[in-house]
Amino acid sequence: MPRPANLLLFQTTFLLLFLCWDVLSRALPIGPDYLQRGWQRLLEEGESCVECKLEDCPTPRGCLAGVVLDACDCCWECANLEGQICDLDNTNHFYGKCGDHLECRLDSGDLRHGEVPEPQCTCLSNQALCGSDGKTYAQICKFQEVRNSHPETNLTVTHEGPCESEPHIILPPYDIWNITGQDVVFGCEVFAYPMASIEWRKEGLDMLLPGDDPHISVQFRGGPQKYEVTSWLQIQGVRVTDEGTYRCFARNNIGQVAAPANLLVLTPDQLNMTKLVLPKTSNQGLDEDMESDESYDYY
Ligand SMILES: *[C@@H]1O[C@H](CO)[C@@H](O)[C@H](O)[C@H]1NC(C)=O
Ligand SMILES: *[C@@H]1O[C@H](CO)[C@@H](O)[C@H](O)[C@H]1NC(C)=O
Ligand SMILES: *[C@@H]1O[C@H](CO)[C@@H](O)[C@H](O)[C@H]1NC(C)=O
Repeated sequence: MPRPANLLLFQTTFLLLFLCWDVLSRALPIGPDYLQRGWQRLLEEGESCVECKLEDCPTPRGCLAGVVLDACDCCWECANLEGQICDLDNTNHFYGKCGDHLECRLDSGDLRHGEVPEPQCTCLSNQALCGSDGKTYAQICKFQEVRNSHPETNLTVTHEGPCESEPHIILPPYDIWNITGQDVVFGCEVFAYPMASIEWRKEGLDMLLPGDDPHISVQFRGGPQKYEVTSWLQIQGVRVTDEGTYRCFARNNIGQVAAPANLLVLTPDQLNMTKLVLPKTSNQGLDEDMESDESYDYY
């Protein structure tokens, strides 16, 4: 027999547990589907699987990652999407099973200190696809989500890899001003499939840069993302004659695009005389980009 003090503690604990449970059960209808299912399962625990009557099964609707069999291997239910929490043992016991082309994985990758990794549905592929809608999908799992959310469009995969298209300039060169003698850099980041080639030209000059001008240089690099290429135009010790409009041209066999940027060069005297508060332009740092980013991921 517990002594009275212990008894009181026991009763209080019991009451608290009961209240918590009560609150939890009331809270059931809130939250995403798969969590609701989890709680439902927890509540029904103990009720073992009864004889499977397919005609009693609800029809799952709008399942973006396809359907999987429930914990009793009886009814079909919506599978979990990429990024949703899942049961590591693939039992569909609490959180549910991942859909087609997905696998439940524990990704302890980018966790902050002290965080417990949660198993998530992860796509088995990272191969980009081109859909019959002319859009590029990062991988088959993203494609399926879109196809299943709009079944009436009969979306199919046209081919592996991104859709072929003219280049897109992801980061154009920006306008720059500086005083004579400083170094300036224009950058141009381009996505294209097939991969693009990049050229630089100065307005009014009928030639490709750098030409034979030793104070101008051009560099290229694949990346930073897949199917991207980035180029930099560097002018060392700018002179007043370097002023003008520079253009980044990106071309592949589908088409060509261009992005312009202006260079304004002031002498120290001019800067002193104008006393203008010139807008601070972002000078895309060549050295910074080239040296600090070791993990450059290029193709
Ligand atoms: C999708 O396919 C169905 C049946 O084959 C057809 O009736 C419908 O018009 C198609 N929809 C589109 C958008 O092509
Ligand atoms: C001018 O160039 C120098 C050296 O390249 C750079 O540090 C500075 O930020 C530039 N000034 C402006 C206004 O962009
Ligand atoms: C800028 O002008 C001030 C006087 O207005 C002068 O003292 C200074 O030396 C000048 N600086 C330059 C770089 O010309």
